[in-house]
Amino acid sequence: MRRAFAPGLVAFALAVSAGAAADRTIVLPADDRYATLALGPGVEVTRQQCSSCHSTDYIVMQPRGDARQWDGVVTKMIKVYGAPVNDQDAKTIVEYLAKQYGN
Ligand code: HEC
Repeated sequence: MRRAFAPGLVAFALAVSAGAAADRTIVLPADDRYATLALGPGVEVTRQQCSSCHSTDYIVMQPRGDARQWDGVVTKMIKVYGAPVNDQDAKTIVEYLAKQYGN
């Protein structure tokens, strides 16, 4: 008795939720500021080189730090995680990060 009842219930639930979805508008929240890098010299290179494996949230949410600290982060991305960033770009990125996300 119970077994026969369950599929009918599922079908009913699907029909109800499909009907409800049709006249519902979904309003997405605005992009949060963490998704965006601060504007400044070097932001383009940084966006290009630092957002292929993870979002730039990883950068923006870090505690602020000086050039030495950011150099450590960039070096780790290259050496440990294999980020294909050349020396010139790495330098530009560290300067950018130290300026925009420095203390
Ligand atoms: C080849 C892939 C790759 C690229 C490119 C990359 N990262 Fe990462 N990044 C990682 C991985 C993997 C982690 C660790 C993720 C985790 O622990 O969840 C990470 C984590 C981080 C973190 C969090 C703190 C930490 O040390 O784990 C920061 C900050 C960061 N990346 C910054 C950068 C910056 C700046 C660049 C550009 C130079 C960059 N990433 C490019 C792979 C990459």
